[in-house]
Amino acid sequence: MRVLITGGAGYLGTHTLLQVLAAGHEVCVFDNLSNSSPEGMERVKALSNRTFEFRNTDLRDRESLIERTKDFAPDAVIHFAGLKAVGESVEKPLEYYENNVQGTINLLYAMEAANCQNIVFSSSATVYGDPDFLPITEDHPLRSTNPYGRSKLHIEEMLRDLAASKPEFTAAILRYFNPVGAHKSGQIGEDPMGIPNNLMPMIAQVAVGRREVVKVFGNDYDTPDGTGVRDYIHVNDLARAHVAALDWTQDHKGARAFNLGVGQGVSVLEMIEAFAKASGRDIPFEIAARRAGDIASCYADPTRARAELGWSAELGLDEMCASSWNWQDSNPRGYEPDA
Ligand SMILES: NC(=O)c1ccc[n+]([C@@H]2O[C@H](COP(=O)([O-])OP(=O)(O)OC[C@H]3O[C@@H](n4cnc5c(N)ncnc54)[C@H](O)[C@@H]3O)[C@@H](O)[C@H]2O)c1
Repeated sequence: MRVLITGGAGYLGTHTLLQVLAAGHEVCVFDNLSNSSPEGMERVKALSNRTFEFRNTDLRDRESLIERTKDFAPDAVIHFAGLKAVGESVEKPLEYYENNVQGTINLLYAMEAANCQNIVFSSSATVYGDPDFLPITEDHPLRSTNPYGRSKLHIEEMLRDLAASKPEFTAAILRYFNPVGAHKSGQIGEDPMGIPNNLMPMIAQVAVGRREVVKVFGNDYDTPDGTGVRDYIHVNDLARAHVAALDWTQDHKGARAFNLGVGQGVSVLEMIEAFAKASGRDIPFEIAARRAGDIASCYADPTRARAELGWSAELGLDEMCASSWNWQDSNPRGYEPDA
């Protein structure tokens, strides 16, 4: 299959790119490198021993997006590109709607122009808001509490509307829970710009000595140890789900959502402890106030993905921490050359 991967230079994109190449597909990456470096893609080339096209393309530029998509003529698109920081989205909502929603509208026009009917879209568990019940199934009511979440929800709704209007259109909407970890080679991994928003890269940067202390936002939640509980999923499991979803698009029609999670919750303190064990390093932490908008617990019911995509997570917390540490320890400054 000819597969266009938007945002393929980013964290989830590079890991998925590697597995899509390993599955034998022809790939082209569109990315504007606003939150990534070309080095990740170079490393994917070396790891996969395969090559792929890369076009420095901004999804906000509809004309060139249409031209370049027609040029590559994909059979399917995996759509990662977008902005993803909840806090930043509250400060800069228009940038989020422009990159995420408008960018996706442009991409859908470009797919139409290239006669491509299949998309695998990066959604998020954030579309469930503060959950009414756990584990969360795909039928849980959808809501969002911030512009980032709303941008994902708007895109999901557009995909459902488009599928209703075009019988030949197929969208696999993948709702990620909390992707963490890195490729086992330690060559590619999560390389956030600035201060990490997510727990795992923060822990990893403290372990490697780049930052002093992990702030634990709230220890008075209604959870076993009082800290937030999330469903962490290994990035390689997540990447594998995209290959399964690509296959799914080939013999299904319509828009369908799938939870991608392990199905079990892990608390912040449990994660810190597991990472300390995997890295052999002390991870100093301090309790801070709750963050606005954070919820107590969130974990998936991944039954649908197992039943319909034939996919389930295989890697556990130890592999998540060990691979993340291997990446951080081998690349203390991420893809930046050592100072
Ligand atoms: N990482 C997570 O925890 C998580 C959880 C749920 C959903 N998601 C979603 O998965 C997707 C990928 O996340 P990630 O963690 O790999 O993020 P990332 O920032 O590492 O990757 C996103 C990529 O998109 C590119 N990009 C951004 N705006 C663009 C634009 N207008 N045109 C072209 N390229 C653009 C960036 O340069 C980057 O390479 C995002 O859509 C994100 O919202 C991520």
